[in-house]
Amino acid sequence: MWLWMLAGCWNIGQDLTTETTTAESLALEAARQLASTSAEQLQTQMVQELGNPGPPNAILEGSSESEALNPHSGLPSPGNGRIGHSSLRPRDPANRAPDWVQPWLDAHRDAEFSDVQGTEQIVEGPGGSVARVLLPIPMLDTCVRCHGSEAQIPADVRTRLEARYPDDQATGFAVGDLMGALWVELPVEG
Ligand code: HEC
Repeated sequence: MWLWMLAGCWNIGQDLTTETTTAESLALEAARQLASTSAEQLQTQMVQELGNPGPPNAILEGSSESEALNPHSGLPSPGNGRIGHSSLRPRDPANRAPDWVQPWLDAHRDAEFSDVQGTEQIVEGPGGSVARVLLPIPMLDTCVRCHGSEAQIPADVRTRLEARYPDDQATGFAVGDLMGALWVELPVEG
């Protein structure tokens, strides 16, 4: 049972105006699967972390500084497509939203997660058709330790985040806020 589903994430908005072909439907379905697996993964890691009997910042004690600080590493591989998680207030500039995700983020600035819907599209790219799926990402209580208010982020976590991400904007979110978008692009084969 996934909080994400409970939170109503599956009300995906329809951007599809024309009838889809079988190849397009297959690509969309694969993109949907990839997006939902990634969303589940993000939450499972956080839930495991919460249930962890060790010190509250156990996740910070990883093998390398970047792995330790980053619970989001290991998004599933998109094969010859692309996958990412982006936010209007990013922590890591490498998570910059692609051109089709940025307008969605801009349109939902300061939104509550419960008020927004994801999108699905088939578009013509230079290399052929591409299936795109975007899922909204909610701010959960399991995220506050690294994305919450200054008071919610333990001092040692704050120090390490500041050292690694000097331009960090990804704090100050409240539970229930829309945090960003998980997006997937897959080529339509055939
Ligand atoms: C242990 C600290 C930690 C926790 C807990 C955490 N995050 Fe993050 N988050 C990070 C770091 C570090 C980055 C930047 C690195 C990256 O995304 O690869 C990041 C980046 C992000 C991004 C991408 C945009 C950006 O800011 O660069 C999103 C979206 C995000 N987190 C959502 C969440 C959500 C939702 C949760 C709770 C389910 C969560 N995070 C919990 C540390 C954390």
